[in-house]
Amino acid sequence: MNAPLSNSAFIKKDQEHMIHPLHHNPSHASGMVWVRAEGSHLIDADGNRFIDGLSCLWNVSCGHGRQTIIDAVSRQMRDLAYCSSYNGSSNPPAIELAERLADICYPQINNFYFTSGGGESTDSNFKLARYYWKAKGKPEKTKVISRILGYHGVTFAAMCATGISSYWGSFEPRIPGFSHIPAPDPYHYPAPQDGSSLGIAAANELEKEILAQGAETVAMFIAEPVQGAGGVIVPPDDYFPRIREICDKYEVLFVADEVITGFGRTGKMFALEHYGVQPDLVQFAKSITSGYLPLGGIGISDEVAETIRNSATPWMHAYTYSGHPTTCAAGLATLDYIESEGLVDQAASKGVYLLEKLHAELDAHPHVGNVRGKGMMCAVELVEDKASKSWYPPEWGVGAKMTSAMIDNRVFTRMRSEVICIAPPLTTDEATLDELVAGIRNAIVTVFGE
Ligand SMILES: Cc1ncc(COP(=O)(O)O)c(C=O)c1O
Repeated sequence: MNAPLSNSAFIKKDQEHMIHPLHHNPSHASGMVWVRAEGSHLIDADGNRFIDGLSCLWNVSCGHGRQTIIDAVSRQMRDLAYCSSYNGSSNPPAIELAERLADICYPQINNFYFTSGGGESTDSNFKLARYYWKAKGKPEKTKVISRILGYHGVTFAAMCATGISSYWGSFEPRIPGFSHIPAPDPYHYPAPQDGSSLGIAAANELEKEILAQGAETVAMFIAEPVQGAGGVIVPPDDYFPRIREICDKYEVLFVADEVITGFGRTGKMFALEHYGVQPDLVQFAKSITSGYLPLGGIGISDEVAETIRNSATPWMHAYTYSGHPTTCAAGLATLDYIESEGLVDQAASKGVYLLEKLHAELDAHPHVGNVRGKGMMCAVELVEDKASKSWYPPEWGVGAKMTSAMIDNRVFTRMRSEVICIAPPLTTDEATLDELVAGIRNAIVTVFGE
């Protein structure tokens, strides 16, 4: 057997043939090669252990190496690794998973279509919204409104709803019919001048945009309950109730993108539960299998699903891996794990612990502008000047400097430019959360001084 390669030897080989998501040669030259993982830790090819500060990509919520998920996948692969779910075929894990999801999802969401991930789910919802409005005799309702700093994936259509402009540049022009309203960001949103709360003012941006576009042309509004990749933006409590009212008033479908927030991350099974609001459509992925296999999907309200069920013509939307028996078996085992370990409650209580610890350790630092979070989804925003909330110029490279300093402190996570995103597995114990915060603090001190 060949001797295992070192991190740098792997990276050299990697650069010969691999093209990565977000490929950028200079950052891959100093990349990490992960060979193992245990619980809340990732281990690189040189044997170094890192705290998995983002559950990889916000998805390994149950932590790494959970035997019951591994066993369920292996059993299912032996029985029936794959079969099609195209009209006329089905399989027990997919049927059971749809039933389980109906039990745990919003009361009006009882119908599920499976995909392989988040972006496919976004596209499925765009198509379903168009399909629904056509069936309702309003085919001109096709436009999509989303938010600045929202992330909904980067398939070509999903990219157009994604509100982080760095994802657009190389691929313009975008598809017409997509527009963005400001995020309800309590740290940066300007104080409303009309006496309304910040949440109401930010939600009213949707009403303005619907009227500007023409309500008769708008199909849907899509939003993450807590914006994830955009820098963990937690909306004020009155934001989503007002969004729901506006969507109802103008007959606009409200789509909750719960690809990150679904399955307990924020301390509720689905995150709009915090706000007492139900969406018309929901999309999920990531933690449905704790990231062990690629599975996503959309949850459809009974009212919307009726248009599919009652249609004389087929719903001509399909993916080879929709209802994949093995990924669905992983989903079922993951839900079992989440329930048996009480991970939703754990996320709520550990999230409070983590946020308090971040505040206690970091608030006083002159370059920490804002610490925020909901459940096990937190962020630290770094600023050049606390009073004006201004960021360092991009050429200063806060993101790259902080990423490298955190790696030196054995913490692996992602930055959105000047924002450190923090979302460890929901199973992470308090001692490891302490280490995570200490590692982040040391990295900040390395980059900015005490
Ligand atoms: C909220 C949200 N929606 C959609 C996506 C896209 O998912 P995928 O990368 O599986 O296409 C992501 C990915 O991070 C996400 O965070």
